[in-house]
Amino acid sequence: MNSIQYLGHSCFLLDLDGHKVLVDPFISQNPINTSVKIDDINCKHILITHGHSDHVADAEEIGKSNDATIISNWEIVNWYEAKGIKGHPMNTGGKWTFDFGKVKLTEAVHSSSMPDGSYGGTANGFLIKTESLSLYIAGDTALTNNMKLIPQIWPALDLAILPIGDNFTMDYEEAIIASDFINCNKIIGCHFDTFGYIKIDHENVKSAFSKAGKELILLNIGEEISI
Ligand code: NI
Ligand code: MN
Repeated sequence: MNSIQYLGHSCFLLDLDGHKVLVDPFISQNPINTSVKIDDINCKHILITHGHSDHVADAEEIGKSNDATIISNWEIVNWYEAKGIKGHPMNTGGKWTFDFGKVKLTEAVHSSSMPDGSYGGTANGFLIKTESLSLYIAGDTALTNNMKLIPQIWPALDLAILPIGDNFTMDYEEAIIASDFINCNKIIGCHFDTFGYIKIDHENVKSAFSKAGKELILLNIGEEISI
């Protein structure tokens, strides 16, 4: 049994056969979040795609309160280890098997720096494979030709989480192309509406996906679905 709860922006709480994995915690500073509280979050692992504050703002507090392990690139894990938080360092292209499943760091075409301005390594996405789910979390990224490699190197995806908000990442039309590249027709959108730069017209975007024969799921903050 797998479920996914949307905590706003690019933050998701995955329940992978009972293993709780948090992705890109940005909750307390999310200007459009009125319902999710970080004290309510339980997780053992925290995946971080890159160091920008809209992906890490609550990582330290949640990491400490849950005694969680951060899984991210070398630079980000080191930055958090210096604050007393456990981590498992990785880098682009590498994979590791954790108790919840296998994780591979993918390339994301984006920048990365920590909230204090220190170097955050390169931006990444994640491929995750459990016994019952194959998932791609693209992270903040442009559309990139290298996404075409994913079907060659990873079991067929059940679901992908793609940014659709434009300005800082690819837009929804490019996300449709990306879903072709990764050979996955079930997409959860992220990185939209949080700030003025990335507001989208939900109905227009959803109908563009459905015209392309794809399903786009836009969750409300706090909403949870089975996957
Ligand atoms: Ni970013
Ligand atoms: Mn971002």
